[in-house]
Amino acid sequence: MDTYSKLIANRGFVDLPVSAEIDLISEIQRLKREKNAVILGHYYIVPELQDIADFLGDSLALAQQAAKTQADIILFVGVHFMAETAKILNPDKKVLVPDMKAGCSLADSAPGPDFESFVRLHPNHVVVSYINCSAEVKALSDVIVTSSNAKKIVESFPENQKIIFAPDKNLGNYLNSVTGREMLLWDGACMVHEKFSLEKIIELKQNHPEAELIAHPECERPVLMVSDYIGSTTALLNYISVSKSQKFIVATESGILHQMKLNTPEKIFIPAPSVDATCGCNDCSFMKLNSLKKLYLALLYEQPEIILDEALLAKAKVPILKMLELSQ
Ligand code: 13P
Ligand code: SF4
Repeated sequence: MDTYSKLIANRGFVDLPVSAEIDLISEIQRLKREKNAVILGHYYIVPELQDIADFLGDSLALAQQAAKTQADIILFVGVHFMAETAKILNPDKKVLVPDMKAGCSLADSAPGPDFESFVRLHPNHVVVSYINCSAEVKALSDVIVTSSNAKKIVESFPENQKIIFAPDKNLGNYLNSVTGREMLLWDGACMVHEKFSLEKIIELKQNHPEAELIAHPECERPVLMVSDYIGSTTALLNYISVSKSQKFIVATESGILHQMKLNTPEKIFIPAPSVDATCGCNDCSFMKLNSLKKLYLALLYEQPEIILDEALLAKAKVPILKMLELSQ
């Protein structure tokens, strides 16, 4: 194992000292130009990283952007499954992440071998998987969806088609309720969206009767049932611009509030409280592993890099391309 690989295996990134004299933002911009790199970022990363991303988006927009980039290097600032998706779409490009340990509890809830056994137990089902899953799970799927296009893609199958939906049972339940399907659900969930407290949300609604509750479909059913609007991160952002309301209770990861405030500074946003007020549970601890220093180090050393087995990559690409085709 070379020195970089040892550092990455230990800490998740090339943990070498950076002089306090260095202006990280201008160095990142310089390295990006020199190396023809592009920075793709998800709405849940911290505001200072959102502000330096070349493209900021939800999972679908990021996959679409990754599919058409002309850059030689993609620095993906989000979580591992998103960078893996970018690599699957760009096998010949270098895809870097600031921290290899930025994973996803939802993707981790469906280990490849367990999911394979589940799929084998249920023949005659098509496999629809949420993009928040590993390359192994993608390779076992017929089509990938995101929260932006899931309803449309599920409805593209004949009504009598048996469907497995994985890994998010909350999104799966929501889709079953809006499509009338009875998809067989894998029992996975996101540790951030599962932690919102229904009792505290209802209390907030009572204290702010003029506020609308907007929620991501990864939230549990009781929270969705009392929501005024349900949608992907991009759909929530669009909704606050068109809604007449001035105040919103936001039931998704707190990073999104930065774009909401930038888009509509005159409106008021209240983060939905989680079960434990002291835990900061509505922050995704994986997304928050990304930092300016790690972005700089990743561009400088071109590490950590997403490497995938070629056969796995080829299999996982098929359902992602299907999703991109169905999303047009
Ligand atoms: P979207 O950005 O697609 O809405 O997904 C949210 C999420 O949990 C990403 O991990
Ligand atoms: Fe995964 Fe949840 Fe974090 Fe999204 S918010 S990356 S689903 S753990």
